[in-house]
Amino acid sequence: MQTGTTTTKVQMAVASARSAGNRIGCVPTMGALHAGHKSLIERAAQEADFVVVTIFVNPTQFGPDEDFGSYPRTLEEDLEICVQAGADFVFHPSNGVIYEENRQVQLCVGELARRWEGESRPGHFDGVATIVAKLFNIVLPDIAIFGQKDYQQLAIIKSLCRDLNFPVEIIGCPTVREEDGLALSSRNAYLSEKQRAHATVLYRALCLAEKLVQDAQLSLKEIREKMLELLVSESGVIPEYATIVDPNTLEMLDERQQEMVVLIAAKVGETRLIDNREIFQQVG
Ligand code: PAF
Repeated sequence: MQTGTTTTKVQMAVASARSAGNRIGCVPTMGALHAGHKSLIERAAQEADFVVVTIFVNPTQFGPDEDFGSYPRTLEEDLEICVQAGADFVFHPSNGVIYEENRQVQLCVGELARRWEGESRPGHFDGVATIVAKLFNIVLPDIAIFGQKDYQQLAIIKSLCRDLNFPVEIIGCPTVREEDGLALSSRNAYLSEKQRAHATVLYRALCLAEKLVQDAQLSLKEIREKMLELLVSESGVIPEYATIVDPNTLEMLDERQQEMVVLIAAKVGETRLIDNREIFQQVG
């Protein structure tokens, strides 16, 4: 596996792989890699011949009071995981390589970025869209892999490719969970042992929603209330939203439909966690 911190180095490696007829896959990450990221890299290695993992803690997607400074940076361990998962190149640039001091242009995502995560984290998805567009322009991948755990991010990246004509196929991969259901996240590292146990309530609330949707006794509004009740019943957990939405528009649903997604965000102590679950139902 090769590594590099400059755009020239990654571009030369990709150009050489492409000229040998290889399909290029990209897995953008912010590092602090775990088994969830490993599964994304493994999937990329199945779908493409030359896999570039990018590791860059992107400052423009963090709000002023968020955890940019303390976000875990674990490059040595990350490189080990990349080797095991079958990456061919790890691009880990510094901030100065990615962002010009005098930069003038950035992307601004529409309605899709303003609800749910966007409401609590204004500007977050503009930063995500901008960095993903920049990484795609540097790496020029044929495919790119993202986790379904960040459901709204995945929807926005698909819109980015469609609306700005990036010729990149976006593949979403299932969330990897601990045995007790907790979704893997780099931010789980912030949780104490007690908080870690309380955090499983997010998964339990998703399962409750799925069961109640399928039982068809309660309205979606009542199911949202049941999820919130369960979340607040867990010590130290403050829910931000627990909702059932359309998978494409992410608009809140009043009535059941064939495909739905449950979205949850909650603070466990000081740590903000998100999770989601797709629900499929025969309607009518
Ligand atoms: O999901 C992430 O780790 C980041 O938001 C991404 C897509 C790598 C952009 O910085």
